[in-house]
Amino acid sequence: MPSRVRVRVPASTANLGPGFDCLGLAIGLYTTVEMSLLEPGEGLQFEMVGEGAGRVAGDTNNLIIRSANSVWEATGQGPVAMSVKVINDIPLGMGMGSSAAAAVSGVVAANALAGGVLSRSDLLRRAAHLEGHPDNAAAALFGGLVMVSAVGEELMWATPTIAPLKVAIAMPGVRLSTAEAREALPKQVPMQDAVFNIGRTAFVVRALETGDYEMLGWAMTDKLHQPYRRKLIPGFDAAVSAARTAGAAAVALSGAGPSVAAFAPNGHEKIAEAMKIAFELSGVSCRTFVLPVDRQGVQISVVG
Ligand code: HSE
Repeated sequence: MPSRVRVRVPASTANLGPGFDCLGLAIGLYTTVEMSLLEPGEGLQFEMVGEGAGRVAGDTNNLIIRSANSVWEATGQGPVAMSVKVINDIPLGMGMGSSAAAAVSGVVAANALAGGVLSRSDLLRRAAHLEGHPDNAAAALFGGLVMVSAVGEELMWATPTIAPLKVAIAMPGVRLSTAEAREALPKQVPMQDAVFNIGRTAFVVRALETGDYEMLGWAMTDKLHQPYRRKLIPGFDAAVSAARTAGAAAVALSGAGPSVAAFAPNGHEKIAEAMKIAFELSGVSCRTFVLPVDRQGVQISVVG
């Protein structure tokens, strides 16, 4: 069995408009975690550089460590002494799947150190449970476009092949936790809104498969979460409309936000810049990214 492994896990944008909690897309920004077993009694060693370094506890509250511990418990080893080194390029708490990447890195690295005893379904279920919802976790694990749905205790997933795609992302300097963004949602929704989203979700998948941006433009619309969340993000409406004016075919809240993801066949830098200016004119700072789709999902290498 390996004593040291490295996993590289992609960021992700979830929901893609109507596919609330069931669509995710892996994007080319990464967290890399090197995990190794230490001698019993050596405890926990945690180091982190990059996005969020210094803001993340290195103890058993840490999501990577909790995720690894869930695997040690499942494999009957109990919490073990380990060293965790993180290089993180995914902004934390911004709707780009940083916590899913953390959960996936923890379960996948620990499973590799344990000899790969857990199945991909089990790893997904654990990461999704630790994170609270499955869409980012599924994209981070499997890469590309992922659809995921619960069937009893199981999570079913599929990874339709999609046309080449890049995403322009605007990340406003707004603090919005996923918990707050979920709190803003109603407990019940009108039947016609549910029907609207079901149809649109199917067409989002089709549009991404075929690279049909005209279809994506009307399909990537939503009545289940964005109407309730947009008010939590100053400048959201202005950024959406600026992206469209700059040539975006479709624009959606990235996961629970606050980031905004825009889709277009070309002109991504211009679209990202237009969203940034719109946020800044609304008094909100903004960073931008133009990212390819990650098609591989988590990658594991043995380093010792
Ligand atoms: N589907 C989740 C939500 C994703 O929208 O709350 C959170 O990143």
